[in-house]
Amino acid sequence: MKIVVAGADGLLGHEVVRVCAGYGDEVIETDVAKDFRCLDITDMDATLAFLEAEKPHWLVNCAAYTDVDGCEDREDLAYELNAKGPGYLAQACSKSGTMLLHISSDYVFDGEKPEPYTEEDPTNPLSVYGKSKLAGEEAIRQCIKDFIIVRPQWLFGPNGKNFVSTVLGIARERASINVVNDQRGSPTYSKDLARAIRALIEQDARGIFHVCNRGSASWYDLAKKALELAELETRVVPVSTSEFVRPAVRPKNSILSTKRFTETTQKLMPLWQISLQLYIKEYLFEYRKSGQA
Ligand SMILES: NC(=O)c1ccc[n+]([C@@H]2O[C@H](COP(=O)([O-])OP(=O)(O)OC[C@H]3O[C@@H](n4cnc5c(N)ncnc54)[C@H](OP(=O)(O)O)[C@@H]3O)[C@@H](O)[C@H]2O)c1
Repeated sequence: MKIVVAGADGLLGHEVVRVCAGYGDEVIETDVAKDFRCLDITDMDATLAFLEAEKPHWLVNCAAYTDVDGCEDREDLAYELNAKGPGYLAQACSKSGTMLLHISSDYVFDGEKPEPYTEEDPTNPLSVYGKSKLAGEEAIRQCIKDFIIVRPQWLFGPNGKNFVSTVLGIARERASINVVNDQRGSPTYSKDLARAIRALIEQDARGIFHVCNRGSASWYDLAKKALELAELETRVVPVSTSEFVRPAVRPKNSILSTKRFTETTQKLMPLWQISLQLYIKEYLFEYRKSGQA
């Protein structure tokens, strides 16, 4: 299979490239970052020319503006990358006969549902980021019928800024850290998500899929487990969202149901605690190798 990955220099993009290459796919890594073949998702003409020249089977879009708080100040950029960009990709895919797999977000929900969200649940994003990601989904749906949209959440993994690596970095410098304990989600390893994405491609699936690791946690639970696995003794202090005000409002409970994913692929997502253990081992290996320990 020939697969173009947009945003290949990001947290998820790196893993999608690695997993697909492991399947023997011909993978073309693209990004706006230097050292990558340039595919700017906001340039429709260039994207169409690229796809017509390369004739891939699939375009996997991992590119986005992912700074949730930054989106509140830079609404234009958020909509350009997260809404218009996916719409341009859908048009380019439609014209070139390429299948599109796009990554959206759990932040399309308001977090008021006590149970895990299914793909059929009504959306109601609270932040500019969430609204721009939902607009991206709508731009795709208006343009093409055949697509895969994956909504993941709470990503951690190598090759990119994420909550777990940030907490481990801060914990080395402080005796205690405050972490929000009243927002819940399912922490998700970028490598597990990349395997799930490849499984959906394998199945030639269509539509929206929620994909996250199994089990749920608060940010506090996740920080505590990460520090325990990294054997750091920094105290984690649980605080409420109201004590930790951020520019963007986050959903209280954005746990996603992966039932549809499992029924489609016959695959069960791993438990987040097991995947976190694997990531922390990898993180510590890289940390020690860099001579910082
Ligand atoms: N991280 C999470 O916790 C999380 C949770 C839910 C959903 N998601 C979604 O998952 C996807 C992947 O997230 P991620 O954390 O891997 O993101 P990321 O690390 O921020 O990677 C995004 C990549 O896209 C690139 N990019 C920016 N503008 C571009 C453009 N115009 N054309 C092509 N590439 C461009 C970025 O380059 P620069 O760095 O140079 O800008 C970066 O390499 C996104 O759709 C995100 O919304 C993420």
